[in-house]
Amino acid sequence: MTNKTLTLTDNDSGKTAELELLEGTHGPGCISLKNLYKDTGYFTYDPGYGMTGSCKSAITFIDGEEGILLHRGYPIDQLAEKSSYLEVCYLLLYGKLPDKSEFNTFSDTIKTHTMVHENIRDFISGFRYDAHPMAMLVGTVGALSSFYHDSLDINDPKHREISAHRLIAKLPTIASYCYRHHRGLPFMYPDNNLSYVENFLQLMFAVPAQDYQQSPVAAKALEVMLILHADHEQNASTSTVRLAGSSGANPFASIAAGVASLWGPAHGGANEAVINMLEAIEQSGETIETTIARAKDKNDPFRLMGFGHRVYKNFDPRAQIIAKLCHELLDDLEGDQPLFTLARELEEATLADEYFRERKLYPNVDFYSGIILRALDIPMNMFTVMFAMARTVGWISHWSEMHSDPEFRIGRPRQIYTGHSRRDYPG
Ligand code: SDX
Repeated sequence: MTNKTLTLTDNDSGKTAELELLEGTHGPGCISLKNLYKDTGYFTYDPGYGMTGSCKSAITFIDGEEGILLHRGYPIDQLAEKSSYLEVCYLLLYGKLPDKSEFNTFSDTIKTHTMVHENIRDFISGFRYDAHPMAMLVGTVGALSSFYHDSLDINDPKHREISAHRLIAKLPTIASYCYRHHRGLPFMYPDNNLSYVENFLQLMFAVPAQDYQQSPVAAKALEVMLILHADHEQNASTSTVRLAGSSGANPFASIAAGVASLWGPAHGGANEAVINMLEAIEQSGETIETTIARAKDKNDPFRLMGFGHRVYKNFDPRAQIIAKLCHELLDDLEGDQPLFTLARELEEATLADEYFRERKLYPNVDFYSGIILRALDIPMNMFTVMFAMARTVGWISHWSEMHSDPEFRIGRPRQIYTGHSRRDYPG
């Protein structure tokens, strides 16, 4: 609330509208449109909502010009260096860092929910062997609604909290089942003696016939990757979760809608598309020059995967952290050096290219993440599943925040109608 207003005047009709100006803690303020249609008879037009504040939120702040990303006020680089993914989950859900006792209680609660109903194992086994893991994930997360009738009252804060705990706890288990079904491997059970990330690694890569050797380097790299992908303000999938949830849809159906939106190559599917692009350069005779030329060609729908961002117009702070992590990890794991070297060369070539500099197109979070996931032996068709697993806490935090927002109402955008004027049915 600023007590400041903006006066809009329609020069033809002389109608004016006094619009309230709203300010937040950081970042640009917003023009409240509450009276716009009533006073002017007009809606606003903003395809892709790039200039539209859809809600008030206290969870994440992004400054695209300065490359700033804060979670409940804490900078992403400090969280990546000092925190754990489970601690960031607590921070996003409850708005503050937990003390030791709060963290232990939260961690123990999550551990009580890591298993899934045995029928979910059968449900996933019903997919074709070659089903894309994201197809299995979107279906299975939605199907969770049919298992938890005791926590679907969205107006009950306790139900909202237990649903959040169940989703955070079960996503690694479900994600690993999608992978193992695809590979024809037996499903592993969660091991609550392990950390959140170590448990996921054993769910993915352990085999019943022998002990699983954890890799501390891989666990640390994965911990950072999950932190970097945990939340990102009102991105496409989070906005989808809010819009789906605004109708009163249950938390599992709302998160399934977010999984579906994240799958697109312009959003969470970009990390898989980056590796395909780098491999095309490496294996198909494409060069960095021809790839960049295609990306600039307006007649070619191809875009440089892993570059550009609707908000970041200087650098994506997460890409900087991931690039550094790439170096450290690949030195230790002898991973995809050629792909990382190629990625670096592509980044340098675009930085020197006027087209990309003019449009402020820099590497985003997805540019290097695929290389790390490959170095951790995560198969490419699981990359977006990893992103969804990490982002689930962001999605459910926004879904919960929306339901406790006094200004909450069902989402219902309008349009500019460009179809036929009224006409009668012939005859
Ligand atoms: C994520 O929103 C989030 O927070 C998302 C995310 C999160 O954590 O949730 O950060 C995760 O989704 C990261 C983005 C991953 N996607 C990709 O890497 C796919 C490649 N990027 C592009 O599809 C694109 O950059 C977007 C979708 C990311 C952003 O699209 P915009 O903001 O709508 O970009 P634009 O269409 O306004 O582009 C402006 C110009 C256009 O050219 P002109 O019309 O000015 O001549 O830049 C061009 C675009 O053609 N452009 C690109 C490009 N991205 C934009 N040209 C070549 N390659 C690209 N990647």
